[in-house]
Amino acid sequence: MRVLLVGGAGYIGSHVSMAFLEKGHQVGVFDNLSSGLRTNIHKDAQFFEGDVLDQQRLSAVCAEGWDAVVHLAAFKAAGESMVSPEKYSINNISGSLNLMIAAAQHDIQTFVLSSSAAVYGEPEYLPVDEAHPTKPSNYYGFTKLDIERNLGWYDQLRGLKYASLRYFNAAGYDPEGRVTGIEKNPANLIPVVMEVAIGEREELLVFGDDYDTKDGTGVRDYIHVTDLAEAHVKAAEQVAASRNSMVVNLGSEAGLSVLEIVESARRITGSKIPLNIVERRAGDPAKLIASAKLASELLNWKARYSSAEEIIETTWRVYKKAHG
Ligand code: WQD
Repeated sequence: MRVLLVGGAGYIGSHVSMAFLEKGHQVGVFDNLSSGLRTNIHKDAQFFEGDVLDQQRLSAVCAEGWDAVVHLAAFKAAGESMVSPEKYSINNISGSLNLMIAAAQHDIQTFVLSSSAAVYGEPEYLPVDEAHPTKPSNYYGFTKLDIERNLGWYDQLRGLKYASLRYFNAAGYDPEGRVTGIEKNPANLIPVVMEVAIGEREELLVFGDDYDTKDGTGVRDYIHVTDLAEAHVKAAEQVAASRNSMVVNLGSEAGLSVLEIVESARRITGSKIPLNIVERRAGDPAKLIASAKLASELLNWKARYSSAEEIIETTWRVYKKAHG
């Protein structure tokens, strides 16, 4: 297949790009390099610099004969989306609509969307399956849900078949060490823990230890980015072959607490990782764990790299390298 990865120079995009190339597909990367990195672009991928808000550029690139687009170009900070919603309306919603329109216009038949567990909001039951009600508790999650709904209409009206992949907590780096780009100003737990371990931050602020969980700290389903990447390839191939759209969770089905992540990071890095328990962060659920049954059934996919050890070891290697 010829696959255009929009946002392909980002953290997840760089892993997805490698996964498609490894399976013998041709890859184009479309990215405005706002948070993506030039060093993340695979040497065998064709690069198109451009912005999803630039309809002309998008249309010109989409005209180059692609079988599928994978859409990974979006802002993803849930907290920020509640204070700067416009940024998310423009980039996530308008940008995605532009891409869907360009894809339909140039007869690209398959669309893979980087969606999120944020579409569910506060879980009503666990594990969260795809039938769980979608009531996003932040605007970021709403933007993803809105795009999913638009894809449903374009499927019906334009025959654009799609896979919407609802990621849980993406983490880790390529186990073979081929991706070395570090995200700037991280807010997610694992990169923050790495910054403390490397000495760039003094301490980890743990957002609450009075949740109804095994040790009182928040429990999440961390899914290794290499597992995610593999699922994108399977989803694109499957949708292209079956002409059936799908909405699928991607998670490890395991719940790890903040303290379990810290313990594991202490063991792996040998660093003390000082921490300080502070107030809960607004909007944080106590536990979020995926059911990945559907992904197993539809894609014959299951997480293989998503243990705390594999996630932290692969991330630590990249942080150590980046800091000499
Ligand atoms: C994990 C746990 C925190 C930082 C976010 C988005 C979500 C999705 C994935 C894209 C929680 C705790 C964190 C810190 C801490 N993104 N924590 N101190 O919030 O589960 O999910 O990323 O789709 O939409 O909201 O991830 O890594 O921020 O937090 O104690 O400095 O770590 O409270 O329990 P989150 P996270």
